[in-house]
Amino acid sequence: MERHSVLDNDIEEVLVTQEEIDKVTTRIAEEIDRDYASSKRLILLCILKGSVVFMGDLMKKVRIPVEIDFMKVSSYAHETRSSGRIKILLDLNRSDLSQCDILIVEDIIDSGRTLSYLSEYLTLNGAHSVKTCTLLDKPSRREVEFTPDYRGLEIPDKFVVGYGLDYAEQYRALPYIGVLKPEVYSK
Ligand code: IMP
Ligand code: MG
Repeated sequence: MERHSVLDNDIEEVLVTQEEIDKVTTRIAEEIDRDYASSKRLILLCILKGSVVFMGDLMKKVRIPVEIDFMKVSSYAHETRSSGRIKILLDLNRSDLSQCDILIVEDIIDSGRTLSYLSEYLTLNGAHSVKTCTLLDKPSRREVEFTPDYRGLEIPDKFVVGYGLDYAEQYRALPYIGVLKPEVYSK
């Protein structure tokens, strides 16, 4: 295991190493460069807080001009299971939405509720286009049908932390993605 901090002790297994994350992020950035080459205003929309690390790396690898923006939604509180309800805590406040190609940048898709809700919300609000990008996907956990336009890696139904992903606001700064020891959240 890549030693990083005392928090390493709570990790059962490293699921995605820093090198793997780097490769996947490079591949997605190349796909974005290709697909949005003729876009007039591409906005990478980071969903706080979990996507902030992925967003930071991805935006540096994308070569076409981009703007960045942020939204914050609640889904998980302090549990490892989704509540099924989405609440917007920080909204997008743009008067130029009809000219924006929005690419929503997410850390992980689980039930699919966050991204399906946000895609519909931004489309209804008149965005020029809306697509979605996720680093991780747990397809076996879907509660609503949803397929992202860009996907880094499929992972099994395990609760993961690191690289932005948290458990009770901890572990976000770990540079890799790891499976949390179940005894940590069943304490
Ligand atoms: P969905 O709306 O159920 O697809 O949930 C997506 C959100 O749930 C993500 O943005 C994460 O914040 C959170 N989430 C889902 N699975 C995990 C996990 O394994 N670790 C940490 N957060 C997770
Ligand atoms: Mg999140």
